[in-house]
Amino acid sequence: MKQQLNRKITLKSRPSGMPRVEDFELRQEPVPAPGPGQVLLQTLFLSLDPYMRGRISDAKNYAAPVGLGEVIVGGTVSRVLESAAPGFNKGDIVEGPGGWQELSVLAAGSLRKVDPDLAPPSTALGVLGMPGLTAYFSILHVARPISGDVVVISGAAGAVGQLAGQIAKLAGCIVIGIAGSDDKLEYCQKTLGFDHVINYKKTPELASVLTKLCPAGVNVYLDGVGGAISQAVFGNLAFKARVVIIGQISQSNLVEPDLGPRSMRYLLTSRARIEGFLVGDWQSRNSEALLRLSGWLKAGQIQYSEHQVDGLENAPSAFIGMLSGANLGKTIVRVAD
Ligand SMILES: NC(=O)c1ccc[n+]([C@@H]2O[C@H](COP(=O)([O-])OP(=O)(O)OC[C@H]3O[C@@H](n4cnc5c(N)ncnc54)[C@H](OP(=O)(O)O)[C@@H]3O)[C@@H](O)[C@H]2O)c1
Repeated sequence: MKQQLNRKITLKSRPSGMPRVEDFELRQEPVPAPGPGQVLLQTLFLSLDPYMRGRISDAKNYAAPVGLGEVIVGGTVSRVLESAAPGFNKGDIVEGPGGWQELSVLAAGSLRKVDPDLAPPSTALGVLGMPGLTAYFSILHVARPISGDVVVISGAAGAVGQLAGQIAKLAGCIVIGIAGSDDKLEYCQKTLGFDHVINYKKTPELASVLTKLCPAGVNVYLDGVGGAISQAVFGNLAFKARVVIIGQISQSNLVEPDLGPRSMRYLLTSRARIEGFLVGDWQSRNSEALLRLSGWLKAGQIQYSEHQVDGLENAPSAFIGMLSGANLGKTIVRVAD
């Protein structure tokens, strides 16, 4: 059978600092037929996520780096074109690690079937996918807020932040969102119902603004950014506060280390708990979380925004845009109809 040609985006050079479109290369290569237990997939939607910045670097990480010349890793929603795996049929919609390419051959065990009648299929990369699961587990199972707690969400208008803040609201908390533009603040407050919002780019005195907003301190901090924002929150932690570190995006493109005040003493005085989080560690409980997230979605109790960009060839610029804050909500490339 004639092999199909696949367009893929590979890593051309390892970025130093913020990635450039020149660090990526669009290539065209034949794709093999699926072997036993595998399926041939056509990518419909590609997820762009901050973790990919770590994967195209060769610094020590929790997963091996993408090699030069290799396709960039990434979550996808795809349509099954050919199946050599029981339980998967042509036309099925699935979510899996397809990467930055139009076609992929994957083992059926790495795929999750997506029900297109439940919600638009792209949501399997956002509210009903990895970011939704991150928000759910980090807030409800690690931070474990109680009603009335003050919860600070950094990256508040992003894929995870928009959901984490709403889950904290459903738990009866007072939510303060921190984000980098006034449009994002308006979205967090008017659409998502956050109680207070702060534009960190316009607030050099972030620590004292937080003290005024919550004089009794911050009970929960979801830290996806690190750096100066986290420094300001650490100085405002309440007694027995919980800090969940999910990411440090402010550090990911630095060429020189970000030196600042040492804030560990705040943990001592507040007797706070600080815990690193990786969504994959919670995989065995994904179905329970997805059931609750889809229930809230169907009931209109959570809202979400997607920042969709057309065309695989635009993935590098959209990725750089997401790292720079151009997105409102989950960043997704629409690869095919
Ligand atoms: N540990 C896990 O399992 C896990 C899973 C998913 C995500 N994460 C992490 O969670 C964080 C958010 O991920 P996401 O997918 O929801 O991304 P996102 O928030 O949708 O997009 C990234 C956002 O980061 C913000 N940002 C960029 N540079 C910044 C800086 N110097 N200071 C403060 N904010 C900055 C930008 O928003 P502004 O306009 O507000 O600056 C940008 O929109 C990332 O750190 C990611 O690595 C971790």
